[in-house]
Amino acid sequence: CGTPAERIAGLLEDFPDHPAPGVVFRDLSRVYAEPGLLAGLAAQVAADFRGAFDRVLAVESRGFLLGAAVAASAGLPLTLVRKPGKLPGTVHCAAYALEYGEDRLEIRTDAVAPGDRVLCIDDVLATGGTLGAAAELAEACGAKVAALVVLVELTGLGGRASLARYPLTALCEVPA
Ligand code: PRP
Ligand code: MG
Repeated sequence: CGTPAERIAGLLEDFPDHPAPGVVFRDLSRVYAEPGLLAGLAAQVAADFRGAFDRVLAVESRGFLLGAAVAASAGLPLTLVRKPGKLPGTVHCAAYALEYGEDRLEIRTDAVAPGDRVLCIDDVLATGGTLGAAAELAEACGAKVAALVVLVELTGLGGRASLARYPLTALCEVPA
């Protein structure tokens, strides 16, 4: 029972000092372990955006779960945005800043039909670097970003503000 946001918040687990001292890991394992919950959330996203998107872009690795479920629920194509060096063929690459250094994401250049309206999906929004890079990759392929969707938005880290040029939906918001 409860709203989707309440159910997600109630199942979130915090692990202080993982994977490094000073970092709090927000673990969604119990959300995924709850029978039917991920499928229900995906169906809600698919219904909320029905007619407004042609394809899902899911971000490696934890974004693959909700992303794949939404694509399956909507009966629409799924495209994977992956960590560097994983995808074959010609790729577009986007770099984004981490607290120390930078990381990159890649997409196959032929992965999206130009003009496709895409939902970019990840599990968690923190600083927004990851989803910003995913949206940049979608645009590099000629797609239009219909919206960004996450299971959990960690508020207070500036992620939403950094992505203000895109519509952003969080199924649950919790303080960072
Ligand atoms: C985590 C999380 C999001 C991202 C959010 O991924 O799954 O993708 O960080 O942070 P940001 O908004 O500050 O970019 P991580 O890079 O740890 O990789 P993983 O999904 O492969 O575990
Ligand atoms: Mg991730």
